[in-house]
Parts: sequence; C-alpha cells; structure tokens
Amino acid sequence: MEKKCILVGVTAGIAAYKICSLVSSLKKKGHEVHVLMTKEAESFVGPLTFQTLSGQRVIQDMFSVDFVPDVHHISLAKKADAFVVAPATANIIAKISHGIADDMLTTTFLAAQCPKLIVPAMNTAMLENPITQENIQSCKKYGMHILESDSGYLACGDVGKGRMPDPDVIEDALNAVMETDRFLEGKHVLVTAGPTCEDIDPVRYITNHSSGKMGYALARQARNLGATVTLVSGETSLSKPVGVNYISIHSAGDMADAVLSASDEQDIIIMAAAVADYTPLTTADEKIKKSDDDLNIPLKRTTDILYNLGKKKKENQILIGFAMETENLLDNAAEKLKKKNADYIIANSIREEGAGFGVDTNSVTILSEKETKRLGLLSKEETAKEILKYCVGGKA
Ligand code: CTP
Repeated sequence: MEKKCILVGVTAGIAAYKICSLVSSLKKKGHEVHVLMTKEAESFVGPLTFQTLSGQRVIQDMFSVDFVPDVHHISLAKKADAFVVAPATANIIAKISHGIADDMLTTTFLAAQCPKLIVPAMNTAMLENPITQENIQSCKKYGMHILESDSGYLACGDVGKGRMPDPDVIEDALNAVMETDRFLEGKHVLVTAGPTCEDIDPVRYITNHSSGKMGYALARQARNLGATVTLVSGETSLSKPVGVNYISIHSAGDMADAVLSASDEQDIIIMAAAVADYTPLTTADEKIKKSDDDLNIPLKRTTDILYNLGKKKKENQILIGFAMETENLLDNAAEKLKKKNADYIIANSIREEGAGFGVDTNSVTILSEKETKRLGLLSKEETAKEILKYCVGGKA
C-alpha cells in the first residue's frame, strides 16, 4: 500500500480520545502521521499520547521557542497528502470555513492544498444551528469533504445527531479522499458480500464462514476509484463502508431479489458473496423441538444469481464471479466462467495459506476467456484494487 503523509487536526471535543486509535492505526499502516492540536484540545488528550502514537512531535503552539525554523506549518502543508480534522468542533468549522488562521492547526490547514476531510462532532443543537450548517456548506463549497455525524448518545446526555463516527469509519473516508486514481468515475458498480442465512425455524439457520471482508474491500476500492457503488450484504460484523448505497439482506432469496432488480443499471457486477445453494424447503413457524430420532431437513435449490445475471447480461456490462474451492481450483473456476457466462472468475483455494475465511489477506487467480492471471498473496484491499484494475481499468 502506498505510504502517505497525513495531518490529523484534533480540536476540543470529548471524541478526541477516539482519535488515538485513528493515529495508531494510520501509523501501523506505515503512513507518516502528524498531529496538530488546538490549545483547548489538550484538556481532553495530552499531546504526549499523540506524540508517542505518531512518533512525531505534536504541533501545538505557533510561537514556541523550540519552533523549527523551516516554517513548519508551510513545509508540512506542502508535503501533506491529506488533512483530517477530527473531532471538528463548531468553532473550528466556523474558522476554517472563513479562512481564519490564528494557531498552528488553522494556519497549516489554510496553507494545505491536499484533500481535506472534516469530521464534525458536537451537541445536536450546535450542529443543527443554521450558522453551523451554513459553515459546513461553505466548507463543501471550497472542496472540503464532510463526514456526516452519527446519531446516538452524546456526552452532554442528549440523544441526537452529532456523534463522531468511529475511527475505522474515519479511516475509510480518509482512504476515499486520498485516492488520486479515479478511473471508475461515472461507473455504477454493484458488489455482493458476506454469507446468506437460510432459516430453518425462528431460532436456527444454515449459513457459511464468509466474513464479507473481500466484498467490502471491493466496494470500498470501487468507491475510492470514483464509482457509484451499491453493496448488497449478508449479515457481517464489519462497519458499513462510507458513501456506498448499502442494502442489507438475510437470505439467498433476498439477495437474488436485490441484485436482479438493480442489475440493469450496473456497469460492473461483482458477486463476492457466499450464496447458499440450498435453503430449507419450508421454514417452521415455531421452534422445532428435539426428539430422540435423527432429523432430516429437506432442502431446495436457491436461485443461482450469477447464472441469471449471465443470461441477461447487457452489452458492455462486466460480470465478475468468485470461485472458492477446496480442490481442482482452476478447472472448477474455468467451468464456472463458462457456465455462468461471466467475464472473469476470481479463484481462490481455502487450502492456500493466507486465503481462507476471515483473514485480511487473499491469494487469487483471475480467469477470463483469454487468459489466467495469478495475483498471489496480497491484503484484501490490495487484491480488490488489483482485481478492479485488471478487469476494468486495463491490466494490473
Ligand atoms: N453464486 C450465485 N448464486 C448462487 C450461488 C453462487 O450468484 N446461488 C455466485 C457466487 O457469488 C460466486 C459464484 O456464483 O460468485 C460461484 O459460487 P460458488 O459457491 O463457488 O459456486 P457454485 O456455483 O455454487 O457451485 P459449487 O457450489 O458446486 O462449487
């Protein structure tokens, strides 16, 4: 993954403590992270915490005596690939939307020309105040990205909008604003992800080990590359990617309905979900009680979604399927490519190290009618980007 220089502006909100995890996570990924704090933010988190986590001197006081003579704020502003302000108080939003530069954070912010992400976090009334709303609109007008606040319990005791999204969501939004390659701009991409659940009775269902990580990585990367993304997801424990149209489904039947009804508007469809091939013939209305006998549950076939997409494929639509196998990987994948009329099949074997369920890496081979391309062991994020580049944007 490309290493970036990221500036993190922390202002005086209680959510500042959560930014420690963001800084730590960005640093672990190998990015150069510089934290800039307002004076008031130091009442919430000590600069030493950020300094230790980032491995860089925290930038606070504009006129400190040990100030680096190379006009630090200008040099940092120049080398930054992104600037995120989180939590962003109503006060800082008012300042940056008006070009006020009265401390190191705001001065560096004004000088920076990189993509900027603002993460408002405040009391609901302050957020909904038309002045704050107008300032947020101004930020957007000047090309800054705004990550919308969550709703929920606020530190002041109120329940409403204004909560800062979790650090992993902020990191996801940051990755989206930092991507410079936008070759999927104007394209509609639908991705399916995760397992399906086939109900036996009100308390039991049949499912599989899919974590959804590969599909979510594909949805995020397609979004980063500029696409309008729809993610049809089975039940997973993953955070919803920011800025995608998210459709939550339970069963293979629900997934078939969601995908087949939206397929005509899509330029690219990626079936990364582990869809059940069979579902109970009937779902019991009440919990099935045990007896001393063995139990057989009759199953019926579900709709093969990819097969149906292949049958009604539009001109220029790209269909990508997955094949997760335990044996005869390439032969089985080649058969699926043909049978389902897909343009590409992404084949992976759960027998291969680093390519199983739930892990953050994958090792895939891409099959098309023309050729077979092995990508090898990569993170799921990198695998996703390489798949999109190879199948849609020219060769990886
Ligand atoms: N798929 C689908 N609908 C189904 C089953 C699978 O759209 N009812 C899609 C998967 O999302 C994947 C591809 O078809 O992209 C291959 O899925 P896989 O489970 O590997 O293969 P199957 O076609 O189900 O065949 P088998 O289980 O016999 O390997």
